[in-house]
Amino acid sequence: MRHLLSIADLSKAQALSILDTATELARVSDGAVKKLPTLRGKTIVNLFAEDSTRTRISFEAAAKRLSADVINFSSKGSSASKGESLKDTALTLQAMGADAVVIRHGASGAPARLASSEWMHGSVINAGDGTHEHPSQALLDAFTIRKHLSKGAPDLAGLRVAIVGDVLHSRVARSNVLLLNLLGASVVIVAPPTLLPVGIESWPVSVSYDFDAAIGAVDVVMMLRVQQERMNDLFYPNAREYSRYFGLTSQRLKLMNAPAIIMHPGPMNRGLEIAAEVADSARSVIVEQVANGVSVRMAILYVLLAGQSLKEGGS
Ligand code: CP
Repeated sequence: MRHLLSIADLSKAQALSILDTATELARVSDGAVKKLPTLRGKTIVNLFAEDSTRTRISFEAAAKRLSADVINFSSKGSSASKGESLKDTALTLQAMGADAVVIRHGASGAPARLASSEWMHGSVINAGDGTHEHPSQALLDAFTIRKHLSKGAPDLAGLRVAIVGDVLHSRVARSNVLLLNLLGASVVIVAPPTLLPVGIESWPVSVSYDFDAAIGAVDVVMMLRVQQERMNDLFYPNAREYSRYFGLTSQRLKLMNAPAIIMHPGPMNRGLEIAAEVADSARSVIVEQVANGVSVRMAILYVLLAGQSLKEGGS
């Protein structure tokens, strides 16, 4: 495996190998010596052409824990803000000897364009492209679900996940649907009709417009951010109406199954898609998702750049 562009490119064995490697690396991170020498001498560039907190910081932490050199590059403050093309940016990074580029871009397909070009010879990791995919987020979400609910099984067979909210604009939802399906979980999408993508009937999911009916039948409630910055139109009447029908409120929390967990990729709109007290409740694993993100991103870099999983006996 050279690139991570889409969950659709992964076999079940490859996805499980990343999750297993992340489990081993999490043990290292919990120990006294957090650093491994595995990627010493490698250079990883974080190329973020869209804002990010969690993904950018956790890829940086992951690379540093594997002893790689890290170059952080964001559009703001770079020549990309002067109109420099993706090609010229990539050629510059190649000239600097980048072994991997972690790219977030507003254009769906930008990481694939980079990977298929002659501009760069290293690995390309999609850190979120437009409304297309966010594969490392889906992998850390699967890692978190497995840790809490799989009862020792390697995959997520039999688990039921509700993905709730702004699916239309969500690359997190697209990657999660693919990965949850690959790992044997079933998915129900809960959203207003206006926030469902065209072609949802071809997705391997069921669809519900009734959050109250769906919430008691699942093991995981994965809330999505309402992506106001991508909305040029009115997709719901107002914030109060949205919260009433599709928000995870304290009242709805009471309808959840006893062991069910609450997830959110962040950043959250507290009070819109999720109530503040629910986000901070004992059922919420939202902060843990961020911590798990470091181990999973270490595993992605390890598998792509060291060429093996820890389960296969890597260094
Ligand atoms: N979940 C996620 O991608 O968060 P950031 O935008 O902060 O990276």
